Amino acid sequence: MCGIVAYIGKEQAFPIILKGLKRLEYRGYDSAGIALINQDQLNVFKKAGKVSNLEEFMLHQDHNGTSGIGHTRWATHGAPTDTNAHPHVSMDGSIALIHNGIIENYNALKQELIRQGYLFKSETDTEVLVHLVDFISKKENVWFGEALRLALLNVVGAYAIVAISKNFPGQMVAARKSSPLVVGIGENGDFYLASDATPIVEYTKRVVYLEDEEIAVIKLGEELKIYNISDQEKTPYIQQLELELEALEKGGYDHFMLKEIHEQPRSIHDCFRGRLNSSEGWVSLGGLKEYEQKMIQAKRLVIVACGTSWHAGLVGEYLIEELARINVEVEYASEFRYRNPIISEEDVVIAISQSGETADTLAALELAKSKGATILGICNVVGSSISRITDAGSYTHAGPEIGVASTKAFTAQVTILSLLALSLAHKKGTISESEFRILIAELEAIPEKVQRVLENNADIEKIALEFKDVTNALYLGRGSLFPVALEGALKLKEISYIHAEGYPAAEMKHGPIALIDENMPIFVIATQGNSYEKVVSNIQEVKARKGKIIAIVTEGDEHLKEIADYHIEIPKSHEFFVPILATIPFQLISYHIAVMRGCNVDQPRNLAKSVTVE
Ligand code: F6R
Repeated sequence: MCGIVAYIGKEQAFPIILKGLKRLEYRGYDSAGIALINQDQLNVFKKAGKVSNLEEFMLHQDHNGTSGIGHTRWATHGAPTDTNAHPHVSMDGSIALIHNGIIENYNALKQELIRQGYLFKSETDTEVLVHLVDFISKKENVWFGEALRLALLNVVGAYAIVAISKNFPGQMVAARKSSPLVVGIGENGDFYLASDATPIVEYTKRVVYLEDEEIAVIKLGEELKIYNISDQEKTPYIQQLELELEALEKGGYDHFMLKEIHEQPRSIHDCFRGRLNSSEGWVSLGGLKEYEQKMIQAKRLVIVACGTSWHAGLVGEYLIEELARINVEVEYASEFRYRNPIISEEDVVIAISQSGETADTLAALELAKSKGATILGICNVVGSSISRITDAGSYTHAGPEIGVASTKAFTAQVTILSLLALSLAHKKGTISESEFRILIAELEAIPEKVQRVLENNADIEKIALEFKDVTNALYLGRGSLFPVALEGALKLKEISYIHAEGYPAAEMKHGPIALIDENMPIFVIATQGNSYEKVVSNIQEVKARKGKIIAIVTEGDEHLKEIADYHIEIPKSHEFFVPILATIPFQLISYHIAVMRGCNVDQPRNLAKSVTVE
């Protein structure tokens, strides 16, 4: 949440920062701001709303300067106004600072600073930081970088911070704790900082991911210096980015979400790369291999995640229990961390997270680690906080997901969990060699089947047109398809603002059936498999109450095509892998409905891609 970007070097900072803010806008879009140092002047520009508002405003401003910081905000403390936008500036106008995270003890610090004569303009927690840095630098007579370090010793909370001072124009300081921050080292002695690598990759591939409580000190003409909060110097660990610039563009699609939905045949295939070979008959998740025995012997596996990733976890629970006969529990990370869970060394806790930065998931892992559990991760973003604190893990390799609503990350997470379930089952001997071989061949065929589902896009769009004006919708599924129903409902509500709920199909008669009338669309996953007959009965119950059935059916299912009001066919596949296929039509339905309703598909209201506050 909140995107921060900064540049210091020989080029004009403004275009680099503006472009960076556009790349990071998925992290929050309540307001945007930039501070630039131009010779001995510090100029600050801030606007409520999206980065485009700021861009328009800047057309008429002097935006010269070779050093600057920029911020795109997801509001926590204070409404999304110009004043609450970052950067925040010290009272004497010398220091400007941007921040991502939450300062938990900001009120106590604020009261103390008010006693010291500081006046606050905004309602944010961040303004406390800039005044505190200013106060300490004057009181201790130290430069603003040292003042920031000392200030952070008094701060409780999460932060990624970048600060500049017009009194030190060739210098920049940055720090992080629990919120991500990457430093890019340019060819010509220039430096780039950002919440993730997407604003940096265009200029350099040499990056340093700051660790918790590290401070980066940048002085033009010198090497990057990293210190810990106790002022001990550390050697920067320079990594090479693998990200490609094209992955960050829309590539001819109207929205990132649509592009990402269409990328799924490739992203699922990339997820297999080097991990599955059906002709030789093996599955191997390199990153987790060392821990497979531990998983097999564990008392239970606990999956912690939020939102869409939690839904993937539920599919994983079904697959791992069914195939490998290992007890799995799936927990909302936010609940798990606050309820004193019973966790021991015998447990394995697996975090699932696209961003790898979700605050609750991170905290749940830290809690599990403190209780001695083995902690593993399934993340998409390489180098993210979760991937760095876990004992081991597997990357989903879905590529950057920029649309705020998660699509390709979900199917990649389910793919990894399918590989994991198969690998554990094979090692444990809970499935026969022939079953194993059949299943890996089925899984390997999924990308091509996803492609075939995507080819139904035009028909799915027609169905979307029928339902674009509804106010409520129900999604039903059974077994591993129940989480797909939850995911379908979440996609619809988050991007089109239609109220939608997912239920296990059989639960309908325990309450939700009361909602059904001729205006209620009910999306049902009714593919052939174990519960097929039961789901058909559920459909009949809905029909009897005049609800409108949109059924996802197995290709060639003439019976259901007749019963359902609308149907979407998906290719026949083994039941274990239907969750991946059945998700695709729901993503497309939500996408088209949101577009038809004029919603901002890639940046739905009130949301942010990476939820780095609890
Ligand atoms: C929904 C969505 C969110 C995320 C959730 C967890 O489309 O994107 O529900 O799934 O915020 O995020 P990660 O996976 O980054 O931990």
